[in-house]
Amino acid sequence: MKCLFVIVPLVLLFYISDLQNSLVTLYHIVNNTEVLSTTERGTTFNVRNIFPLIKTTSKDFIQKGREYYRHPKINCVNNNINILSIVKSSAKNERLRLAIRNTWGKHSSNVSNRLVFSLGRTNDTAVQQRIEKEAEMYKDILQSNFIDNYLNLTIKTERGIHWVSQYCAGARFVLFVDDDVIVNFKVLEKFLFSLPSAETQNLFTGYVSAHSRPYRDGSKFGISVKEYPLTFYPPYVSGPVVLTTGKVMQMFDKEIPKMKRFVFEDVFLGMVAEKLHIKLSQKYNGLFDHMGWNVKNLPCFLTSHQAYTKITGEIYEQMYNMHANGVCKQAKPFLPKL
Ligand SMILES: *[C@@H]1O[C@H](CO)[C@@H](O)[C@H](O)[C@H]1NC(C)=O
Ligand SMILES: *[C@@H]1O[C@H](CO)[C@@H](O)[C@H](O)[C@H]1NC(C)=O
Ligand SMILES: *[C@@H]1O[C@H](CO)[C@@H](O)[C@H](O)[C@H]1NC(C)=O
Ligand SMILES: *[C@@H]1O[C@H](CO)[C@@H](O)[C@H](O)[C@H]1NC(C)=O
Repeated sequence: MKCLFVIVPLVLLFYISDLQNSLVTLYHIVNNTEVLSTTERGTTFNVRNIFPLIKTTSKDFIQKGREYYRHPKINCVNNNINILSIVKSSAKNERLRLAIRNTWGKHSSNVSNRLVFSLGRTNDTAVQQRIEKEAEMYKDILQSNFIDNYLNLTIKTERGIHWVSQYCAGARFVLFVDDDVIVNFKVLEKFLFSLPSAETQNLFTGYVSAHSRPYRDGSKFGISVKEYPLTFYPPYVSGPVVLTTGKVMQMFDKEIPKMKRFVFEDVFLGMVAEKLHIKLSQKYNGLFDHMGWNVKNLPCFLTSHQAYTKITGEIYEQMYNMHANGVCKQAKPFLPKL
């Protein structure tokens, strides 16, 4: 018992000193020129030098730093878009993209909603050729100018945000998801459309981690003190699912070039949110909690990882329709009345 009394104030002390540090905003680069000179951001960047194997003669490809190679051919600007979904997809994950198009993609791309897959570049010619065909066929591929790998996920996210900001900023809501997440679109719609307008103003939500600390163990998720000197990360929305708006994405897009890029894209967006004074709330965490995958409980989950082996278009439609009867129990406290 006594121990607790010692530990709690100590933790508090750490937290307070961390807050003070963060006032200095060590991770914010004040000088834009520094950012511009240390990354490819904003500079021209010749594809042919990096991917000599790949022919880039297609007129869909644009060769500028923050620009894209391949635009999705979707019409966004002159329409009233309710929900724009941006899936951060790995170049090689053709199958997941197909699964998405066959399940929740059916609901996320229609007159009022749009779906876009954000990809990087691959040096695998066969994969790239398939992507070109896929893009031709579905017209929903945004392929940007960076090597598609885990370490470049922040770049993938930035490009998605930049695209939203330039071409679809009028979208009432924007959903950013990983390509292994299944979205229960019915729950999503109910949730978004029932939010009070005060909350939709600066909407940036999902599963919010607060007081998370960087791992200092040299692992995949480890980060050195040099890269990130503070004890705590800022509050951030956990990477797989982010809900926001076109307007907020425009604010992010303006701020991002002024900041030093950070390897974990979700933490990075937390830094941007903090800089923009957007407060993150944990109030909806229950809705985004990944409680494992059980087909019986399908209607209760908004999202789940590694689930595409179990879900077919048919099961998905069942899940989608079941919501009309309000069968969801576990997630009930967090769900809007269905
Ligand atoms: C910004 O960067 C430039 C070029 O590196 C440098 O000359 C200048 O002193 C920097 N300004 C600040 C405020 O750090
Ligand atoms: C688009 O799909 C969503 C989700 O299924 C649905 O709620 C909405 O009514 C559809 N919009 C139109 C115009 O059909
Ligand atoms: C692609 O790049 C990786 C790492 O840079 C390399 O190991 C691999 O051999 C390359 N593949 C091809 C087809 O060039
Ligand atoms: C992407 O990741 C690779 C490998 O980690 C790295 O060499 C490259 O500089 C990164 N950035 C871009 C723009 O491709």
